[in-house]
Amino acid sequence: MATAPWWQCAAIYQVYPRSFADGDGDGVGDLAGLTAHLDHLVSLHAGAVWLSPIFMSPMADFGYDVSDYCDVDPIFGALADLDALIAAAHERGLRVILDWVPNHSSDRHPWFLASRSSRTDPRRDWYVWRDSAPGGGPPNDWPSTFAAAGPAWTWDETTGQWYLHSFLAEQPDLNWDNPEVRAAMHDVLRFWLDRGVDGFRLDAIAKIAKDPELRDNAGAARRHDEDWDTIHEHLRGIRRVVDEYEDRMIVGEVALSDLHRIVSYVKSGDQLHLAHNFVFCDLPWDADGFRISIDDFEALSERAAWPAWFLENHDHSRVATRFDDDGLGPARARAVLLLLYALRGTPFVYQGEELGLPDARIPADRVVDVDGRDPERAPIPWRPPSAAGPAAGFSDGEPWLPVVDDAEALCVESQAADERSALALTRRLAALRAQTPALQTGEQRTVDAGADVLAWLREGDGDRLVAAMNFAVTATPLALAPELRRAPATLLVSTDPDRTGGALDLATVTLAPGEALLVRL
Ligand code: NOJ
Repeated sequence: MATAPWWQCAAIYQVYPRSFADGDGDGVGDLAGLTAHLDHLVSLHAGAVWLSPIFMSPMADFGYDVSDYCDVDPIFGALADLDALIAAAHERGLRVILDWVPNHSSDRHPWFLASRSSRTDPRRDWYVWRDSAPGGGPPNDWPSTFAAAGPAWTWDETTGQWYLHSFLAEQPDLNWDNPEVRAAMHDVLRFWLDRGVDGFRLDAIAKIAKDPELRDNAGAARRHDEDWDTIHEHLRGIRRVVDEYEDRMIVGEVALSDLHRIVSYVKSGDQLHLAHNFVFCDLPWDADGFRISIDDFEALSERAAWPAWFLENHDHSRVATRFDDDGLGPARARAVLLLLYALRGTPFVYQGEELGLPDARIPADRVVDVDGRDPERAPIPWRPPSAAGPAAGFSDGEPWLPVVDDAEALCVESQAADERSALALTRRLAALRAQTPALQTGEQRTVDAGADVLAWLREGDGDRLVAAMNFAVTATPLALAPELRRAPATLLVSTDPDRTGGALDLATVTLAPGEALLVRL
């Protein structure tokens, strides 16, 4: 039997380096801090760590504005620290995924400085420059992704033209229709692959392909500022570079709301290995909606595409807060952990998700992000503030963002000592997945379990598991079909710490509000 590639079996843990662990006391997390805490990832059986950008950056978008793609920003350390991190990770069997930002550079990148210096500079066409629209104003109606940034165009006095930026004005879009740009960005990939990284997360990947005629979005059947037909050629070019090296992986941030389009980035086998599924991430809390989305991915992929599941990252309100209208947020955060580790597909777990962290409260005078994303970027609380001070073991200095309320109970050290904690639950789930081939590569079928319950079957290697998750605010009976209900079952894990283990009669089980469980038949 062919063994599945590592990126299908592994659980992938996302680190937002600014907020993970601060090694030098300046209040901002760094590579030395991360390297010192790698055993936390090992305790979660992570197969790989994805690092949000650590490259040279003026930090207008906290690293997603890169001014040198081939060096580490001093706030995070030096190239040697990254080499040390990669070596320490590899020693522990952990792969390292970097965050490549192909759509835009910083406005301080030497390429953009050259491009904006004159209309005849050889790098002029490396970015997207245009005259005003016939009646004046920006060339078209494209908006920045960040509402606060307004239009996606900024006027440049020096050369009397507008330049395009899908995000902040400090993040000018590179022109991927220019072969020199493609070649330069491919070389960036090779630079890091040569240093031993195991793959990349491709930031804002749908944005690298735009209508070359720059037509308006309004009135058109489809958007013209992303996901243009050229995307597939661009992805194949990127994949060819990655395939020059053995066993590497690319996962795309495919921030599109059409599942067909997302699947088209992975299905052919010569584009992305994995796509972050934003249709799934943006779902409201509803059992049917989740089931349909899971089934749709399987149906559209015709099994050629491998799913990747995430509900949290550094751009989204955390599950414990997002789904807390009725006070069940913390229970739901635990249920989502079971969902991620028990679905067919690669789970992506964002730092702090294993602790069931809520969003942090950010006082108005501490807000730093233009797009409201500070709450989910709060530093990881490692130790109780009563023992480690107000930064909760994240830093010896003043943290760049406040830590969550109740760091005393939510911190890693407190949760590690409590077998009822979210952290203890995550460790159990992660261990179970790591030891259970049926969970990694087994078949999957969603099954009927009554209203408000999402349930699915995993089968493989002679093993049969059923997972069920209660979306209701009330206790809900598990209404499985008779063939499953009658099977003798053993509880493997429940997200409800009050449920006791051992044999379970599936015919009479009632799920607590927010509870998810996993049983072996
Ligand atoms: C997506 C990243 O996840 C986000 O943090 C960033 O602001 C934008 N892309 C722009 O790079």
